[in-house]
Amino acid sequence: MATSKSEGPGLELIHRPRRLRMNPILRGMVEETRLSPSDFIYPMFVEEGRKGRRDREEVASMPGVFRQSIDAALKEMEQCLEAGVRAVILFGIPGRKDPMGSEAYAAKGIVQRAVSAAKRTFGADLLVVTDVCLCEYTDHGHCAPVRKGEILNDEGVTIHARTALSHAVAGADVVAPSDMMDGRVGAIRVTLDDAGFTHVPIMAYSAKYASGFYGPFREAADSTPQFGDRRSYQMNPANAEEALKEVELDLEEGADIVMVKPALPYLDIIRLVKDAFAVPVAAYNVSGEYAMVKAAARLGWIEHDRVMMESLTAIKRAGASIILTYFAKDAAALLRG
Ligand code: PBG
Repeated sequence: MATSKSEGPGLELIHRPRRLRMNPILRGMVEETRLSPSDFIYPMFVEEGRKGRRDREEVASMPGVFRQSIDAALKEMEQCLEAGVRAVILFGIPGRKDPMGSEAYAAKGIVQRAVSAAKRTFGADLLVVTDVCLCEYTDHGHCAPVRKGEILNDEGVTIHARTALSHAVAGADVVAPSDMMDGRVGAIRVTLDDAGFTHVPIMAYSAKYASGFYGPFREAADSTPQFGDRRSYQMNPANAEEALKEVELDLEEGADIVMVKPALPYLDIIRLVKDAFAVPVAAYNVSGEYAMVKAAARLGWIEHDRVMMESLTAIKRAGASIILTYFAKDAAALLRG
C-alpha cells in the first residue's frame, strides 16, 4: 500500500498518526507516560544473624537481590539514593519463628532495628516503608495465627496492629499491611492514632491476589506456608469487582494509598481502581515478574533493559503512580542516563 501520494495512486489520507512518530523530539513531546526514579520503592530483605557470617547472600531466583545484614542494607540504601531512588520497603527474616510470629512486633526485631538504623543514617532523605505481615515470622508460614488448621482473622489483626505500631515507634515513615486479614487497616489506624502516630500513612495491599508469581519471594523471605495455601485470605485471580470492594473497605478504614499486587498480570485491576477512586494507587511488580525477565534475559531470549522499562512503563500507564519493584535501582540508573 502506498504511504504518500507521490508513491502511488488512490490513497488520500487525512489522518496519518505516523506523522507524530517520525521525529524523536516530537515523539518525546507527545509521550503520555514517563517514568521517574521518584516513582519507585525498592524492596529489601534484612536478615537476623548475618553479622559475622557472610554479610549478604544473593537470592538464587532473584539475581541482584540479597538477604542481608543491616550494615549491608545501609550500603545498598546509599546506592539507591545515588541512583535517585528515595524510598525502600523493608522485609524481615527473623532469627527464630514461633506460632504467633512474635519477632514481627519485637521492639528490637530485625525490621525495627533496620528502620532505626536507616532513619539515623539517612534522615529525611530516604522514605522508609515497612511491610506489616506475619508470614516471615510464624513457624507455620501463614499471615495470622492458626488454630486447628483455621487461619484466625481477628487475632491476626490484633498482632498486625501491634506490629505496625512497633514499626512506627522505630521510625517508619509509612506502614504497609500485606496480610489481607479483614479489618486490619482500621485496627492499625486506630492503634497508630491512639499512640500519637496520626501522621504515619498506611499503604494498604488492598487487592492482593493469591498468586504463583510470589514464588521467588517466598524463597527470599523464607515464608512458604507449611500447610495449605493463602487462598482463604488472598484474592481469587479470577475476580475484578471484588478488588473494588477490597479497596473501598480499606479506604473507609483509613488507607491513604491502595495497592494492587501483582502488577503485570493485573493491569486491568490497576486501571479499574484508578478510575473508581481519587487516591494514589501503588502496584507491586513482584518477585516472579522480576525472575522471569532475569531468566529470559540470561538465556538471551529477551533484551533485559528494554523489557524492564517497557514493563514499568506499562504499570504506570495502567494508573499506578507508585511502583514497588526490584528493578528500581537499575531502572533509575537508566533513566538518569
Ligand atoms: C507477605 C508478602 C508477600 C509478598 C509481599 N509481602 C508474599 C506472600 O503473600 O506470599 C510478595 C512479594 C513478591 O513476590 O515480590 N505477605
